[in-house]
Amino acid sequence: MSNSKFIFIADVIEERIDSGEYQPNAKLPTHRELADEFETTPATVSKAYKLLSDKGRLESFVGKGTFVAARSDLNEAIQAPEDESDFNFSLLQPCLYKNVPAIKKAYQQSADQLTDSLIGYCENSGHKKHREAAVRWAQEYGLEGGNTRNTVLTNGAQHALSLLVETLTKPGDTILVESLTYPGILAITNLSNRNVIGVELDEQGVRPDALDTAIKAHSPSLVILIPCHQNPTGVSMPEARKKEIAKVINENQVWLVEDDIYCFLDAPPVPPIANFAPNYTFHISGLSKAISPAMRCGFVKAPESQVAALNAHIRANIWLSSPINFIAATLLIESGEAFQLAENQREMAVHRQELARQIFPSINANASGFHIWLSLPQHWQQDRFTMEAKNRGLIVTSGSYFSADGSNTQHIRLSLTSISRESKLIDGLKQIETLLNSNPSSFLPF
Ligand SMILES: Cc1ncc(COP(=O)(O)O)c(C=O)c1O
Repeated sequence: MSNSKFIFIADVIEERIDSGEYQPNAKLPTHRELADEFETTPATVSKAYKLLSDKGRLESFVGKGTFVAARSDLNEAIQAPEDESDFNFSLLQPCLYKNVPAIKKAYQQSADQLTDSLIGYCENSGHKKHREAAVRWAQEYGLEGGNTRNTVLTNGAQHALSLLVETLTKPGDTILVESLTYPGILAITNLSNRNVIGVELDEQGVRPDALDTAIKAHSPSLVILIPCHQNPTGVSMPEARKKEIAKVINENQVWLVEDDIYCFLDAPPVPPIANFAPNYTFHISGLSKAISPAMRCGFVKAPESQVAALNAHIRANIWLSSPINFIAATLLIESGEAFQLAENQREMAVHRQELARQIFPSINANASGFHIWLSLPQHWQQDRFTMEAKNRGLIVTSGSYFSADGSNTQHIRLSLTSISRESKLIDGLKQIETLLNSNPSSFLPF
């Protein structure tokens, strides 16, 4: 056997992954099948698979087989601001300048409040007073049944998601997500070797019948959904749909993580799924989208039986979420100012959606969140469009980052809130529209 045969086989498999013939998360042929194709032995195929696993292109699970690794390009999907002259449409964050005075004041007051007990170690789920504020925040937006015993503080919603994946599942387990979902979830499942399967969506969010079928077919350890101002589609589940989803969760007795980080964007609030499936739902909310992502304040309401397990994982990983930020958060929530800041952001989002609709009349007329999900004309391929836009200082997010199975979506996601100045936002949106209408073949290939 030639020593380089396994390298040749690895190269061919990698080409098949890059060309899309083998999609992310897809199961690869068995060793025997590939050995027959390449007229070699299963041991040589094993060596090729090992080479690609070491490169992070494949993942193997004992008893389940070998799979194409999912993408984890969070840095590409969501780009930190680099150049002020860029139009950064990739960040879903509040219009921050509006919040600076209130946040400054809250941190100044926090400094006056520091006591030895507040700057020391405390219970892993956080100080009771801070958990009371967390309960009040989520309650304001429709969550029922929260109390200081079943509420845990995290360093933002991203931490809450990774904490829940780590606590409720193990490597090789299957997690169901929306077929298009927040790349931060895909990054967690990818890095932690969880198998992710997307569930079909319609114009009201995930389909209850598709969820039921997928649960029965795949026996997932966990379902993760973003029912409110879904990232990336912008769809919000009406209450009736949430009740149907809760019924599926209750009947199948499966854990649900409800990422409700955008709950403050509905007026009046739509009750979360957690209200209808409280025994199985972990409800995530937080201040990143309404006030500031830098505060890293996330809140989880958990079924009471699971709180001790969550606290054990928090202690093992970070000991506790920094109480200093929760002092400021508590001041803002107790004074009611937090709700006013959230309401200002909601009004701004509604207004900016109207502006965007004037430029892109085809977008979802009901969307009132921070972003739009824009379908591309046939003549543009999404990654090519994203690249051409970037060449012009327009940072947009390709739809491919949101796809649970890596399939083409023919969409881009645009944040309407990360550009502070309205005139700059309109200018950027118009430039995107001009690019959409131009012919890609007139640009040099990348
Ligand atoms: C659906 C969703 N969940 C969680 C997060 C992360 O939030 P945080 O900054 O609180 O970690 C985001 C951020 O974009 C998001 O869109």
